[in-house]
Amino acid sequence: MKLVYVCCSLLIAIWQEVEASGSGPSGVVDRAPGASSCSQVRLRPAGKCEDEEECPYQITMPPLTIQLPKQFRLLEKTVKELQSLKETVNRLKSSCLECSLKQVDLNLQKDSGDPPTEGEQSRGQTSMRVIHNGNDSDNDIVQNMQVKMNRMSSSLKNARAQINSLQGRLEELNLLNLQNVENIVDRKVENITGMVNKISSTCTSCPGQQLQLQHLTNIPPRDCSDISMLGQRINKVYQVTPDPRNGSFAVYCDMESFGGGWTVIQHRINGSVSFNRTWADYKKGFGNLNSEFWLGNDKIHLLTKAKDMILRIELEDSEGTRGYAKYDQFYVSNEFLHYRLSVSGYSGTAGNALQFSKHFNHDQKFFTTPDKDNDRYPSGNCGAYYGSGWWFDACMSANLNGKYYKTKYKGKRDGIFWGTWPNATSEYYPTSFRQAYKNVKMMIRPKNYAP
Ligand SMILES: *[C@@H]1O[C@H](CO)[C@@H](O)[C@H](O)[C@H]1NC(C)=O
Ligand SMILES: *[C@@H]1O[C@H](CO)[C@@H](O)[C@H](O)[C@H]1NC(C)=O
Ligand SMILES: *[C@@H]1O[C@H](CO)[C@@H](O)[C@H](O)[C@H]1NC(C)=O
Ligand SMILES: *[C@@H]1O[C@H](CO)[C@@H](O)[C@H](O)[C@H]1NC(C)=O
Ligand SMILES: *[C@@H]1O[C@H](CO)[C@@H](O)[C@H](O)[C@H]1NC(C)=O
Ligand SMILES: *[C@@H]1O[C@H](CO)[C@@H](O)[C@H](O)[C@H]1NC(C)=O
Repeated sequence: MKLVYVCCSLLIAIWQEVEASGSGPSGVVDRAPGASSCSQVRLRPAGKCEDEEECPYQITMPPLTIQLPKQFRLLEKTVKELQSLKETVNRLKSSCLECSLKQVDLNLQKDSGDPPTEGEQSRGQTSMRVIHNGNDSDNDIVQNMQVKMNRMSSSLKNARAQINSLQGRLEELNLLNLQNVENIVDRKVENITGMVNKISSTCTSCPGQQLQLQHLTNIPPRDCSDISMLGQRINKVYQVTPDPRNGSFAVYCDMESFGGGWTVIQHRINGSVSFNRTWADYKKGFGNLNSEFWLGNDKIHLLTKAKDMILRIELEDSEGTRGYAKYDQFYVSNEFLHYRLSVSGYSGTAGNALQFSKHFNHDQKFFTTPDKDNDRYPSGNCGAYYGSGWWFDACMSANLNGKYYKTKYKGKRDGIFWGTWPNATSEYYPTSFRQAYKNVKMMIRPKNYAP
């Protein structure tokens, strides 16, 4: 037993050397001790020599078997499972259609005055016993559907769980980043979930049918839109989990405005919270989710990474004029990339201040704070000058994290600023009054969200 173990270690040592030299095949060795191939490795002196201890040794190895972790097979299985799920959904769709047709049929038969049987009378309106084609399988269909639905929802749960554990283990082995695979699967699961919901709502006319979809709700919501889909319609703080590896956190959800499902990432209402903050503060977020806050760059990154997001900015100036800017694409990179902003696809009434001109464009700009200069202004820090954390260019045509002024102000333009606001150009001179904003909100929602 000990011998086998020693020989195994040797095999591993050799493998590591092959790997290190870069000449080995790319792949992964299953490092579990006791692999059967070990017993076939032979170690013996190569040729004749006096003192055994100093003899050169020759190693004969059987062809090296490289074993991929079995998680790879699981992955394939998951993909197949999803495929079959899709087929189940299609089957369901047609059997549902069948079901509705039969109901129509049923009504026609009733209208035509066919005398109902004894059994039917006792079961009343919801009876499905009137048989089309003399077939007696309506209840079977409904029951089948129920079974399929149940199986499907638990399969979905399984697929999801498998992907999660799979990703953790694969990363442990440092094999490959499954992020893409997960995204694809997530999207498929989302698609299927959507289809199942659609079917379940069109199928409600089938009597006796109780779809058990609550299993699906075990997938933790990734943002406010998922919570909204579950029927939550109240504006308040909820927990979301955009990426299970990074845990959950609290966000404020706007479930009422413009179809709801919005995850609010920034809010200004009365100047109670200072936005002149450090990199560390902007990274983790600050303020109070129920009043004024910056959600935090890490969280914004995770949310915009989990799904393709749109951004909606709501503005109201001190005189009560309102406007909005909507961007069909919004993404914030990770800290390593200085939380670079990607924003495009403007529409709205407030003007496209984030992409004001060639010289003032916040798209693709890094995040800058008073203590961390990543802006394009060569001889100073825009964040320090304006007392704000923002995706400064050199420096800005918009800055929603500026100082909160209750009324119009003069001098340095360090207030909340939106460069395409009506009359903004006439405020160019420091001697003129500058607009103050009493309400600012930045919120995001998945691009494919359908309220
Ligand atoms: C009745 O339904 C069963 C199963 O759904 C099917 O095998 C059978 O062919 C059907 N019979 C008729 C007469 O349609
Ligand atoms: C989701 O469903 C739509 C419509 O059936 C389809 O066009 C799209 O390709 C699907 N997406 C994925 C990721 O399967
Ligand atoms: C700001 O608004 C919040 C929430 O409405 C409130 O709790 C807080 O007292 C207000 N602060 C100031 C300074 O008005
Ligand atoms: C999320 O978790 C991954 C894996 O643990 C980690 O590498 C990454 O830095 C985390 N990201 C954030 C924004 O916390
Ligand atoms: C920001 O705060 C720092 C101290 O925390 C202060 O020195 C600086 O003047 C402030 N900047 C602005 C523009 O208000
Ligand atoms: C626009 O700005 C000019 C100059 O500051 C001012 O006289 C005028 O009242 C402003 N108009 C509006 C609609 O705010």
